Amino acid sequence: MTRLRCDRAPAWGLLQAHYAAQGKNFDTRQAFTSDVQRFARFSQSAPHVFVDLSKNRIDTAAETLLLELADQCGLSAHREAIFSGEKINATEGREVWHVLLRTPADAPTGSTHEAAELAKVHETLGAMLAYAEKVRADEAITDVVNIGIGGSDLGPQMAVLALHAFAHPSKRMHFVSNIDGHELAATLARLNPENTLFLIASKTFTTIETMTNAASAKRWFETSGGKNIARHFAALTTNVAAAKDFGIDTTFGFWDWVGGRYSLWSAIGLPIAIAIGAAGFREFLAGAHAMDKHFRSAPLAANAPVRMGLLDVWYRNFHGFSSRSVAPYHSALRRLPAYLQQLEMESNGKRVDASGEAVPFGTSPIPWGESGTNGQHAYFQMLHQGTDVVPVEFVAVKKARHALQGHHDLLLANVLAQAQALMQGKSDAGGHKHFPGNRPSTVLLLEDLTPASLGALMSWQEHRVFVSGALWGINSFDQWGVELGKVLAKDIAPRLHSGDANGLDGSTAGLLAMLRS
Ligand code: F6P
Repeated sequence: MTRLRCDRAPAWGLLQAHYAAQGKNFDTRQAFTSDVQRFARFSQSAPHVFVDLSKNRIDTAAETLLLELADQCGLSAHREAIFSGEKINATEGREVWHVLLRTPADAPTGSTHEAAELAKVHETLGAMLAYAEKVRADEAITDVVNIGIGGSDLGPQMAVLALHAFAHPSKRMHFVSNIDGHELAATLARLNPENTLFLIASKTFTTIETMTNAASAKRWFETSGGKNIARHFAALTTNVAAAKDFGIDTTFGFWDWVGGRYSLWSAIGLPIAIAIGAAGFREFLAGAHAMDKHFRSAPLAANAPVRMGLLDVWYRNFHGFSSRSVAPYHSALRRLPAYLQQLEMESNGKRVDASGEAVPFGTSPIPWGESGTNGQHAYFQMLHQGTDVVPVEFVAVKKARHALQGHHDLLLANVLAQAQALMQGKSDAGGHKHFPGNRPSTVLLLEDLTPASLGALMSWQEHRVFVSGALWGINSFDQWGVELGKVLAKDIAPRLHSGDANGLDGSTAGLLAMLRS
């Protein structure tokens, strides 16, 4: 399927003209004054999530042109290619079918191949959830250690933290990702082998960090008196043979059409299922599926992930904003920014289009942030008064799941106040006390933080990243950019022992010598 890259579509030039004529000087405060319907026009409900886009620097004309751009770039067909299992990850020759992982077993399918894959998904899901329940019921297992990195860590870790309120009270969940032995050593120091289950999570079962940590965990288990590897180790991987070679019998597989950063819906989600149980995990999948249905079927103009993805293009390519601050106003969502960094930057941090030609425009912005209100007392100064405009994405949850008086109202008041302050500014003081205002923000509002609403929120984020990548004409589903560093680390590791600096640049050679001295 050929796709038109956004800068070659007729609407691109019209957007440039609209930006020069109005977008550049767009003032959100005036926009509210001249349009009393602005909040209604630029906000909408989607399954489990409400979004307010109205404080962004966007008007109806810009959004209409962006929707035309999406049409001209064939967004709808490209979106459908995901759901129908086309091999749109062309550089790896793979389907991009993570949506199938959350499709109900009895949903209609478009082909016998899809039906067969869906049947495999549900067979594995059933086995994995039965295992999760077995672990939950096993009182001897008090600690579960997930060893994995990237997509085999960030999504599951973020979700386990986020769903703390639903978690089994007597299972402690640990996540070890870093090859830095300090992390594993500190975790192991608190564990007893007989009470510990290790989950070795790696799509490829070759990732050096995970393999090194897994080998050390196994050595620790055996030397600390652990007896039964089969009971205390399970592998989550597409490479079942490698897991067996490693000595693990209990494995839950998945398929190469599941990208690492989209894998938490597969067997990689086992730590989530152990934490919240089989029923909770099914609700999590159902929430994501509800968002998938919205994304697949809602008209582009009323499609929440599409509208956000188009705003991303408007900001990155016309306003020139190169980052976005993510501010989850719920402490359980504190790993959301880290999860989004992999999702967005590994997907869209690309400099060539699908045909390999360098693109003449910016691609992935940098999502970054901290949980609110902590960020307010750290870097919000820059957001309010710095020289760069950084759009902020607030995530707020209406309902609190604690009984402490006053906290939640203050938390929510802070979301509203920060978004208001960014937009309104303050000009009466002047000088150092002047706030320019007109600083854009979005509020994502959840009624409650539940497995279903978290699933919907994460699915939404996946799709919004897809939308900008689709318009940019890039392959959002490969990650060749992580390979070079891996190769060079393999070359350098033995040099730390041998001291051989042959062929190294001056800086690397100098640092190597210092590390050896
Ligand atoms: O190096 C990047 C990456 O391939 C990510 O895409 C992936 O999520 C991570 O490494 C971990 O890979 P694996 O699950 O195969 O260990």
